[in-house]
Amino acid sequence: MKISVHGCGYVGLVSGACFAETGVNVICVDIDRAKVERLQRGELHIHEPGLEDLVRRNLESGRLRFSADVREAVEHGEAQFITVSTPPGGNGEADLRQVFAVAESIAAHMPGYRLVACKSTVPVGACAEVEKRIAAALAERGADHEFDVVSNPEFLKGGAAVSDFMHPERIIVGTGSRRAIDFLSALYAPFHRKRDRLGVMDRASAELTKYAANAMLATRVSFMNELAGLAERVGADIEQVRAGVGADKRIGYNYLYAGCGYGGSCLPKDTAALVRTAREHGYRSEIVEAVASVNDRQKALLGEKIQAHFGGSLAGRLIALWGLSFKPGTDDMREAPSLVLIEFLLSQDARVRAYDPVAGERCKSLLGERDGLEYAASAYEAARGADALAIVTEWPQFRSPDFGRLRETLGQPVIFDGRNLYSPDMMKDKGFRYFGVGRGERVARDNGSGMHPVGEEVFRPWGSFEGLGQGQGYQVKRLRVLPGETLSLQRHHRRDEHWVVVSGAPVAERDGESHSLKTGDHIHIPLGAVHRIHNPGDEPVELVEVQLGDYLGEDDIERFEDVYGRA
Ligand SMILES: NC(=O)c1ccc[n+]([C@@H]2O[C@H](COP(=O)([O-])OP(=O)(O)OC[C@H]3O[C@@H](n4cnc5c(N)ncnc54)[C@H](O)[C@@H]3O)[C@@H](O)[C@H]2O)c1
Repeated sequence: MKISVHGCGYVGLVSGACFAETGVNVICVDIDRAKVERLQRGELHIHEPGLEDLVRRNLESGRLRFSADVREAVEHGEAQFITVSTPPGGNGEADLRQVFAVAESIAAHMPGYRLVACKSTVPVGACAEVEKRIAAALAERGADHEFDVVSNPEFLKGGAAVSDFMHPERIIVGTGSRRAIDFLSALYAPFHRKRDRLGVMDRASAELTKYAANAMLATRVSFMNELAGLAERVGADIEQVRAGVGADKRIGYNYLYAGCGYGGSCLPKDTAALVRTAREHGYRSEIVEAVASVNDRQKALLGEKIQAHFGGSLAGRLIALWGLSFKPGTDDMREAPSLVLIEFLLSQDARVRAYDPVAGERCKSLLGERDGLEYAASAYEAARGADALAIVTEWPQFRSPDFGRLRETLGQPVIFDGRNLYSPDMMKDKGFRYFGVGRGERVARDNGSGMHPVGEEVFRPWGSFEGLGQGQGYQVKRLRVLPGETLSLQRHHRRDEHWVVVSGAPVAERDGESHSLKTGDHIHIPLGAVHRIHNPGDEPVELVEVQLGDYLGEDDIERFEDVYGRA
């Protein structure tokens, strides 16, 4: 059998090499000539366990070739696999330009029947569009070759790509064409000899299956991250919760780890594309939208905790970072949580010394030379003299470090573990301050005296508040008061307040008088007035509050009672 693969990235290279390993004659083509030349010498630009050996072995056998010549590739393979990237466009939609470019070059050169299999992750309808474009290009050439466009999404995991491809859990083939099904069944037969794992379905279902799978995985991660935030607030340990929840066979343990957020080339991009597809069809994918925003929040969490631990200022602090790649086993830095943390720390004038077993170079080329950012050759070198260590990627070698040496090496024995690698009790015994995600010590993020950053929603038993903006002498907040809830009776000494009711019907109490308000009403709370808000209704109340004064910190609030017992 002869096949061609368009795009020598993670998916193309792995697919091409694995097909060649089963005896298929494969040409992998790429527009990046430098990449092709390196691949022809057996030099890989990506790190995937087992891939280098596989590529070299099949290059030597002659079954695998690399080329920059599209015509040669299109003439060679009866099946043409599209494995180019589908990056996110400006509004989260998948940018399909590379896919269409390949489709058009296949159409320009095909000498007869071709099976075009789309392995790139593409939204529902993309294969139909590829089919349309090939038909149009053939018509323009005056050629009437038959062809099939099949959705054949790829499910391999970065870091275990070769083994996933060799031992797939399912092979999804979306087409109604008998000829295409027969070809792909034969091509994939060596990969599932024990039992049939080929799922043949219509094209739209195959396209959606890929997005559904990634959205489900992302949902599990964000769900656990959301619960981790709650665990921190109620004094629970998310790892114990995970063990209890995962024991249920209907739920299981996979993808149930709380941490500092998911990254990679797939989950963030595919969830965004799914949300976008839904919107394009007049539908809202509310769960997946929430999954993505929980993940954004989670990626910011480590930095915020570190900042809060150091009293709000990180200027001059040295933070050691273990792990850069978005997950272990790969040097893939796409959407890696480490990038969010590094940017945040540098923006706060902290210094960062990072170590990753394989992704250092890739990170360096991505971020370039940056003041305050350096790379270490080992985990301990990264930790030397640091004010704190942040663990971002769960590489196996970080799981059991020499804790004695680590404590001696760090300037301060403080660890922010974004992957919950260690037991909080053990870390305490070993003399560390240990902050996990949903376990370990809690950072005192809100001691009642600090100001909260704009955009951070701060939850209270009565509802929540969020800073909308602040400047010299003023701050603007949005308050949400849950039905039946009341805020503490209080007084300010250095600011007065204006409330505008955005929705709902609260009762404002001001110096002993009750004022029933409705949407659009405004009330002024002058300096020194004793006041509180109550929501007697069944719907949440939303207020916008403008505070004016020379000092706006929370410790200017004199509370006469504390509705949730903090005072
Ligand atoms: N990386 C993963 O783990 C993974 C897993 C499953 C599915 N996918 C999906 O597979 C697709 C490819 O992902 P990737 O990570 O392999 O991308 P990648 O960026 O690593 O590789 C894409 C390659 O295509 C090449 N290319 C671009 N235009 C070309 C053209 N016209 N002709 C030939 N080559 C061209 C690029 O030079 C690059 O080498 C994406 O849609 C992705 O969502 C990726």
